[in-house]
Amino acid sequence: MDTKQARGDSKVTNIAAAASLDGTSGDLLILPVYAERSWGPGAAEVASELGEWLDEYLDGLDFSGKVGQTAAVPGKGAYGRVLFVGLGDDADVDTLRKAAGIAGRAAMRYEKVATTLNRVDIYGASEAVVYGFLLGQYTFDKYLSKPKPTETTELLLIGDVDDTDIDHGRKVAAGVALARDLINEPAGGKKPEVLAGIATGIAEETGIEITIYDEDEIEAEGFGGLLAVSLGATNPPRMVVLKYRPDGAEKSLALVGKGIVFDSGGLSIKPAAGMETMKTDMSGAAAVFGAVQAIAQLGIPVNVTAIAPLTENMTGGAAQRPGDIFTARNGKTVEVLNTDAEGRLVLADGLALAVEDEPDLVIDVATLTGACMVALGKKVAGLFGYDDEAAALVEGAARRAGEKVWRMPFEKDYRSKLDSPIADIKNIGDRYGGAITAALFLAEFTNEYPWAHIDIAGPARAESDDGYISKGGTGFSVSTLVAVAEDMAVS
Ligand code: BES
Ligand code: ZN
Ligand code: ZN
Repeated sequence: MDTKQARGDSKVTNIAAAASLDGTSGDLLILPVYAERSWGPGAAEVASELGEWLDEYLDGLDFSGKVGQTAAVPGKGAYGRVLFVGLGDDADVDTLRKAAGIAGRAAMRYEKVATTLNRVDIYGASEAVVYGFLLGQYTFDKYLSKPKPTETTELLLIGDVDDTDIDHGRKVAAGVALARDLINEPAGGKKPEVLAGIATGIAEETGIEITIYDEDEIEAEGFGGLLAVSLGATNPPRMVVLKYRPDGAEKSLALVGKGIVFDSGGLSIKPAAGMETMKTDMSGAAAVFGAVQAIAQLGIPVNVTAIAPLTENMTGGAAQRPGDIFTARNGKTVEVLNTDAEGRLVLADGLALAVEDEPDLVIDVATLTGACMVALGKKVAGLFGYDDEAAALVEGAARRAGEKVWRMPFEKDYRSKLDSPIADIKNIGDRYGGAITAALFLAEFTNEYPWAHIDIAGPARAESDDGYISKGGTGFSVSTLVAVAEDMAVS
């Protein structure tokens, strides 16, 4: 993986605003349509200009304006083509992001694109349109011998648009795209050292501080969980710590992301099918990298520390064995009975390190348990923890960000499932409530600080394109984490 590559920046370099359609021109004009083909802002004028054939033509396509429906027709005059996109009834900002994503994907072959989607009367519309459009155009094509690169270079928003809204949408989308690029990269191309190099690039470009612990320093610093998981791997581990310290910050936020660049299960090996997507197991680390980049680019006045324990979970001759015991950063001993429950082992050190700085809030993001995916499906993340205020903050931020999280029980009665006769704790419980016991395990390393755990095993990866989500790595959590930082800046 090229460590000097662009960090999530889109080819759409020019995003601008124009007061009205008058005098503008381009290759594609995107117009919103509500349910039952009720025209959205700007659409009625263009529709009547196009002529009487339009209604019959759209009837033929069965285009009524349902959410996500699209219909492309030849343009007349200033725009070569017109794309109608459906918003249904009751459109909210999530609908708008989704529709903008679908429109963005449909617009990939057009260079100069304009839209009035931003004029739909919804709070945050312009930002949502920029965010959705850019992410809808996201592709991961670096390994295709015949890639079809996005041709769009210009997006013109018609209407009264604030530059800061465009800027915000663009920077958060770049953070998400960066995370997607890292997740979609095959494991062979993103060894811990390589990912640490990319983190260095992020730090240099945004002017933030970075510390990288190599394998010897990981051992010397007592990151016993990260070291234990790395024993079976040939590629050495890294612990990455990024520190963003803006002027005027009063609050501090620590983000910890699971960074298993490949999860074979270790000696408790996964079946072949279960391994196919396990390059995704560093999505938590990718999310904290994307989030800290966006937070720094936006200049949000909150101190943010992003921590990413990076390693591979492999089966080499030196691999940890079921039954082995290690000592974590905070001094607790852990009996490892299943080497496939490795995420919690590296997070133990990450969380212990995070709380040493006494932050106001710690959030970890991890593709932690299949059990969470069984409980909530592929589109909803689990939210866990003992701190109701922290959980409420994350829930509110996720709602604004358009990401679905659901608070799960933090059932302390289940803690005894993790009792070990020979160590302070063991790393697995029984077959029930696996996502909860994983969260209870993590809580042993947070020293009772305000903390929230987001299990993204389901939504880290999408099976197909869906609105502004693209098949493969989704970058889930980046947007939520940025929104959390924003909330902390004003509280
Ligand atoms: N990385 C997996 C969790 C996962 C599974 C994420 C499927 C996304 C899709 C994690 O390391 C794991 O293997 N967890 C085990 C824990 C078990 C051994 C207690 C699991 O969920 O089966
Ligand atoms: Zn695992
Ligand atoms: Zn894992």
